[in-house]
Amino acid sequence: VGELAIVGGTPVIENPLEWSAVWPPRDEATAERLRELYFSGRWTAFDEPEADFARDFARHHDSRHGVFTINGTATLHIALAACGVGPGDEVIVPPLTWYATAMAVLYVGARPVFVDIRPDTLCLDAEAFEAAITPRTRAVIPVHTYGAFADMESIGRIAARHGIRVIEDCAHMHGGVWDGRKAGSIGDIGSFSFQHSKTMASAEGGICVTNDDELFERMFRIKQIGYGPGELPRQKKTGPPADLFCYNFRVTAFPAVILREQLRTLDERLVRYDRGARYLEERLTASTNVRFQARDPKTDVQGYFEWISLFDHPDFAGIPITLIRDAMQAEGLRIWVLDGPMYDFVLFNVSRDAYDIPRRCTVTEAISATALGLHHVQLGRPESELDQVAEVFEKVTSNLDELRVLSG
Ligand SMILES: Cc1ncc(COP(=O)(O)O)c(C=O)c1O
Repeated sequence: VGELAIVGGTPVIENPLEWSAVWPPRDEATAERLRELYFSGRWTAFDEPEADFARDFARHHDSRHGVFTINGTATLHIALAACGVGPGDEVIVPPLTWYATAMAVLYVGARPVFVDIRPDTLCLDAEAFEAAITPRTRAVIPVHTYGAFADMESIGRIAARHGIRVIEDCAHMHGGVWDGRKAGSIGDIGSFSFQHSKTMASAEGGICVTNDDELFERMFRIKQIGYGPGELPRQKKTGPPADLFCYNFRVTAFPAVILREQLRTLDERLVRYDRGARYLEERLTASTNVRFQARDPKTDVQGYFEWISLFDHPDFAGIPITLIRDAMQAEGLRIWVLDGPMYDFVLFNVSRDAYDIPRRCTVTEAISATALGLHHVQLGRPESELDQVAEVFEKVTSNLDELRVLSG
């Protein structure tokens, strides 16, 4: 096993992954298409590459429509506004997520209501969701957290019974399949991010998908300054409905071109990530007391944005998760703590009057203090590198006394 690297021992991984060498995906075909686009001068949101990509991404996610935009925060904003959510309304969100899920609710003037997660899938708890519904609840945003599906069966049933819109936050769930249905097509709208770390990445970008023609038209107009689908500058325009605030959330054609090849390879990459995750989970379940984020039983294809390991066994009591992270990083593994609960996150500088927490989110608080996340690209690496990941876990978890001494 050897001495921990954090106290001067030899690290398990001699040459830690050089992030920019392995992520984002790059290929010659895309480089050539970018060159063609550059010289064509057809760079705008009104040119074909954007519409082509939006159509292909939506189709890949069993949806008739896609609205391509600047990021996965604007997508949530657009989706809520298209559903008519506004001042006086409440929107239920989980606290184990990123800033955007709650902030988008505030952007449309509504009130985020934080509802706890399940301890196994780490996604919204359906019973707690139902208990938090009031006459003001207009929408729920289940997040498929880190690429694991929320319990869409119960959430969908409860939302339908109460007339509540369902906006799936699929920022971590490109290409996932649940009960034979593609991520984003299960609720009313699916919202995806193409930010640099996501499974499909163009530095910035996002897309909303839907099968509802009216929601599509409203979302398109909101992002395109009020233009209707297919309408061009300097041509006759129909104009948005009087109640609809529209924005310039247009994006250029370049990210659409970058994402085309990534969409083509997405499904085969998910197979590789799944194989890597299962390999690690099987080995580490046998050799350590670490547990892993569970898959909803109806999951056909898991998304994998991050691979989440949980150090909540009594063996790990008294050892801060940040110390376990530091020990693993010293061994050469790129691994991170989580950002949640969002209401305590340093960037979420929102007055306590602006949101609700009807019941303490004790599961989110416990998970946030005991979880580590590994970026999905590491799951797709060769078996020899997966073995090194496992060795880091095994080495650190068999030196807990040493960590206890360090934590003072
Ligand atoms: C769960 C979740 N929702 C929304 C977003 C927002 O996406 P973006 O960074 O593209 O605005 C992110 C990503 O950062 C996310 O993790």
